[in-house]
Amino acid sequence: MSKILITGGAGFIGSHVVRLFVNKYPSYQIFNLDKLTYAGNLENLKDIEEKPNYNFLKGDITDQKYINSIFKKFQFDAVLHLAAESHVDRSIASPMEFIHTNVIGTVNLLNAAKGFWGANTEGKLFYHISTDEVYGSLDQGGYFTETTSYDPQSPYSASKASSDHMVRAYHNTYKIPVVVSNCSNNYGPNQFPEKLIPLCIHNIKQRKPLPIYGKGENVRDWLYVIDHAKAIDIIFHKGKIGETYNIGGFNEWSNLDLVKLLCQIMDKKLGRQEGESAQLINFVKDRAGHDLRYAIDAQKIMKELGWEPSLQFEEGLEKTVDWYMNNESWLEHVTSGSYQQYYEEQYKA
Ligand code: NAD
Ligand code: DAU
Repeated sequence: MSKILITGGAGFIGSHVVRLFVNKYPSYQIFNLDKLTYAGNLENLKDIEEKPNYNFLKGDITDQKYINSIFKKFQFDAVLHLAAESHVDRSIASPMEFIHTNVIGTVNLLNAAKGFWGANTEGKLFYHISTDEVYGSLDQGGYFTETTSYDPQSPYSASKASSDHMVRAYHNTYKIPVVVSNCSNNYGPNQFPEKLIPLCIHNIKQRKPLPIYGKGENVRDWLYVIDHAKAIDIIFHKGKIGETYNIGGFNEWSNLDLVKLLCQIMDKKLGRQEGESAQLINFVKDRAGHDLRYAIDAQKIMKELGWEPSLQFEEGLEKTVDWYMNNESWLEHVTSGSYQQYYEEQYKA
């Protein structure tokens, strides 16, 4: 029976990965380790919390003693590492938290794997989940491939790049079996409403302004979160040790076009007149050092491992909007308290 440690499993992507693994692999024991920061929410996992192969551990990856103690106690065979500080705007306001969690936290996990697995790494795996932002910013043309040089531009992406380098260094130096994947922008149920899509869904519902940074020309490559979780499953089981896999949706949208599409979808769902919600669009001060464009070339994982995105963007956005409309209490819980303070600080004129 495999014992798998999933870090950050109460967050957005992590909760979808935990659910997929718990339901699909009843013979695995899944240990979800999460600090439950503002972004971690056990409500995301209500439907699986009673399953016999699911275990929750509340803890902090920056605490080496604690990490060592759980490795000793549970003897993990594999780690799927998703815990991170994940929001670029917060990294601009408080970079140090990103260094602690994303860099030191990752190295703590690597140290524990190195210490407890030792030379006996048969059947072991450290899978590090990373982002396309480590590659920097593209102009209008071209794609990020697995061999694109790292050129991170924000404190968030620099901290993720640093953690990716440490993972590869531990593989090269100490022979820890690792695999890394770098994914584009995810969207879907359970995403914290500090990120563009859920923030706009929340604001459209409340008829609040939709803050678009700069002119809204920045481009992102969007992927439905469950397609990312499925890619993680495939890489975990079929990926080659020491390799990197890029994951993306071949689905580029400028922020302005995306928000307009979201407004159209929500006008219909809310019974508003066509064009009504788009009047809420509000151009605000640009993000400092705002990366212009991300676009992933995902051919390697498609050709070598047989993964492909399953949903068209419009369909995925509709599902996402439906989820937020049907889960008002989730949204209410996560937007009470410190969210209001964050929002006022981030979007003050
Ligand atoms: P998220 O912010 O929604 O969730 C992060 C989770 O990590 C939360 O549950 C939080 O409580 C937990 N966490 C934070 N600090 C911790 C600590 N010190 N110890 C233990 N747990 C801690 O993030 P997400 O959007 O789900 O991203 C998950 C991972 O995927 C991250 O590593 C991120 O860099 C990567 N990623 C995200 C995207 C995206 O579009 N969201 C795309 C590519 C890669
Ligand atoms: O590319 C993968 C990355 O995608 C992940 O590694 C990050 O964890 C994740 O947060 C995401 O980063 P982005 O900065 O691209 O996502 P965000 O939703 O914050 O912003 C998407 C785009 O929308 C970006 O160009 C900034 C813009 N934006 C964002 C917000 C919150 C706005 O115009 N207004 C906003 O209020």
